[in-house]
Amino acid sequence: MCGIVGYVGKKQAAPILLNGLAKLEYRGYDSAGIAVENKGDKIEVIKAKGRLSVLSDMTDGGKAVAGNCGIGHTRWATHGEPSGTNAHPHVCSDKTIAVVHNGIIENYLELKDKLIKNGAKFVSETDTEVIAHLLKYYYTGDPMDAITKVMMHVSGSYAFGIMFHDHPGEIYAVRKDSPLIVGQSKDGNFIASDVPAILEYTRDVYYIQNMEICVLKEDSIKFYNIDKEELEKEVQHIEWDAKAAEKEGFEHYMMKEIYEQPKAITDTIAPRIKDGKIVFEELGLTDEELKSVEHIVILGCGSAYHVGLNCKYVLENLTRIPVDVELASEFRYRNPIVPKNTCVIVISQSGETADSLAALREAKKLGAKVIAVVNVVGSSIAREADATIYTWAGPEISVATTKAYSTQMVVLYMLGMLIGDLKGLIKKADYENLITELQSLPEKVQRILDEKERIQWFAHKYAAAQDIFFIGRGIDYAACMEGSLKLKEISYIHSEAYAAGELKHGTISLIENNILVVSLATQSALYGKTVSNIVEVKSRGAFVFGVTSAGNYTMEDVADFTVYVPKTNELFMTSLTVIPLQLFAYYVSCAKGLDVDKPRNLAKSVTVE
Ligand code: AGP
Repeated sequence: MCGIVGYVGKKQAAPILLNGLAKLEYRGYDSAGIAVENKGDKIEVIKAKGRLSVLSDMTDGGKAVAGNCGIGHTRWATHGEPSGTNAHPHVCSDKTIAVVHNGIIENYLELKDKLIKNGAKFVSETDTEVIAHLLKYYYTGDPMDAITKVMMHVSGSYAFGIMFHDHPGEIYAVRKDSPLIVGQSKDGNFIASDVPAILEYTRDVYYIQNMEICVLKEDSIKFYNIDKEELEKEVQHIEWDAKAAEKEGFEHYMMKEIYEQPKAITDTIAPRIKDGKIVFEELGLTDEELKSVEHIVILGCGSAYHVGLNCKYVLENLTRIPVDVELASEFRYRNPIVPKNTCVIVISQSGETADSLAALREAKKLGAKVIAVVNVVGSSIAREADATIYTWAGPEISVATTKAYSTQMVVLYMLGMLIGDLKGLIKKADYENLITELQSLPEKVQRILDEKERIQWFAHKYAAAQDIFFIGRGIDYAACMEGSLKLKEISYIHSEAYAAGELKHGTISLIENNILVVSLATQSALYGKTVSNIVEVKSRGAFVFGVTSAGNYTMEDVADFTVYVPKTNELFMTSLTVIPLQLFAYYVSCAKGLDVDKPRNLAKSVTVE
């Protein structure tokens, strides 16, 4: 996510801004900038692509920028490539208003068209720049008036830091759905996206609630609602240490990111559902091109490959187009045959995985149209694909992917719905159900997270396990692949995922007393068969952890430990069943006292072969 810092007080602002932004580096960024006003002189904006050190070198550590009031930003690119031009702060045409923003403005294109018609001159590709021009458009000398008008016309998520040239020594902060806090100290006052940015200056903070505005001066902090009525707030005292604060109170980034999945899914699907229909403005393929696709190949590594395995079922069901799923590291070397009208989908969180990038190049060389599903804006795979669909998961720090995996899944669900609908294969009622169930996923994921203690208790019992098996059929088998990988990579326990129907062809010989078998059974047409497989392994001494959807209460007649996930469209079940599997892997790793976020031998992005 982007990082915001603001300061107004007795000291020079720029060094404080740079120091605060450095404490937010863990949020991931690709460019940074500051804007400082010097007692009514012009607002000076300095920004650059790359690490904060570039900005620091440009400003001699901030010492070269005079002024005691300023705002700063580290950008995690969403709209627009990482670049100096797209970096924040953004300003209006006459540079009298400067804005930093964390979040996504969903209606920025409509607003941008209106502002251009009114003479605004845009220089960047970002959604944020629209806010600077919109504030100018409404500005008649009263910042609160302009800000409240912007709040009434903007949809999406935002945390803004704003300065007005003719209001020196003042910072305006506004939030809706993106984090923003206010810090108070004897030397001045702060805004920040997160506690670490200001912890060395103060532990006294205020929390801005949604749709509230905060006005900071050197010696005063005032809060207002959208009706400009002043609000009273209690100051809170932060007890966290700096490291804990970066994880917002979670012990590990992995759990923080598991918990961010509802928001990540919402942020990924919301901008792509307009008037009850799936729209992919960024796809760059015409309806005719989409309808002409005769073959889909999904390529990826690790969890990205598992997304493909899962979404093969979804895409084939919705589009009736044959889907092959391949490990990128295999595809790139096997002299593949790519028939005409093949669409290749390359999935990658980092967008830098060497095998996936090489597979993309091989597919393009063979004439395929390549769509990338990527989380890092401007990454190599995003740049080289014919079209890129970004997952809005925000930066994923933990090596074991969770929120990126979940957002990749929903992107492919939506792609299947789009193509299936274009081909007239989805009845209106079924389409509406898919939309409804897609939009219900975040709340259903949250409900599972709210029951994590049971899984934590169970996981502790298996910290000493040597072998754990995962079995399922159809989509459940694909989910087992991901659950098994999660467990292996962070707990170092040997684990294997098997198609339940395959057990009798060899693996069942490995089942012996007390071995743990995790069994997923959510597909109604296959439920009975998987239950039979559970009975088979039970009769050989296995201990069974069953995961099924609410209503299948016969599961607890055969399983020893059962987790029920909320019902949803069966095509989307993995988005829910993967949550208990993520939590199980996480708690086993914790019980073993391992480094959950940085497991041995693994890297977050495998940029080498
Ligand atoms: C997932 O938990 C692993 N860390 C790993 O399998 C990962 O999914 C794989 O390396 C692919 O990475 P990418 O999505 O960045 O391409």
